[in-house]
Amino acid sequence: MRTPHVVVVMGVAGTGKTTIGPLLADRLGVPYAEGDDFHPRANIDKMSAGTPLQDDDRWPWLDAIGAWAHGRAGLGGVVSSSALKRSYRDRLRAAAPDVVFVHLTGDRALIEERMGHRQGHFMPTALLDSQFATLQPLEADERGVAVDVAGSPEEITARAVAALDGLDAAAPPAEAGPSPR
Ligand SMILES: Nc1ncnc2c1ncn2[C@@H]1O[C@H](COP(=O)(O)OP(=O)(O)OP(=O)(O)O)[C@@H](O)[C@H]1O
Ligand SMILES: [Mg+2]
Repeated sequence: MRTPHVVVVMGVAGTGKTTIGPLLADRLGVPYAEGDDFHPRANIDKMSAGTPLQDDDRWPWLDAIGAWAHGRAGLGGVVSSSALKRSYRDRLRAAAPDVVFVHLTGDRALIEERMGHRQGHFMPTALLDSQFATLQPLEADERGVAVDVAGSPEEITARAVAALDGLDAAAPPAEAGPSPR
């Protein structure tokens, strides 16, 4: 049997990480952890005030998420984390080398509209601009898939499961493949 994935659901604010993450975890039969819950209080206060986090604020957060992901290695799990920059994903991989990223991607207008319906959340819509400016999509050497967020949460989740299955079929673990050089 295939080793269960440890998935990081990534993407800009409002793209559906908190919505899709638990559904994906259910489908995979593994636990879900909400990335926002790993933020130190100081980060939540900053975001509530509309102050973008600096990278120095993010390292302890990413390390905490990475520690959770590492603890799920071989067992499987899904955790949300916007992971917009390559360097953030490198930090997560440093803690949990086998993580797979599911990048929720979508039309800016659709995401903005969905965010507009959301209440009582600490991320103001205005921060979406900086989110898109910061976003560095997955690169060719990063293990992961991009999944479009058009449609219902169930449709998106099914798309993510299929993409992960496709990833397994296309790319066996690196140590089993031919050496790149
Ligand atoms: N497929 C969907 N169809 C309709 N509404 C959706 C869908 N996915 C998410 N939403 C809604 O869009 C809003 C943003 O989704 P969600 O909170 O899951 O995004 P997020 O990526 O976790 O955002 P953040 O980075 O700010 O935590 C929520 O109000 C959610 O209910
Ligand atoms: Mg969220």
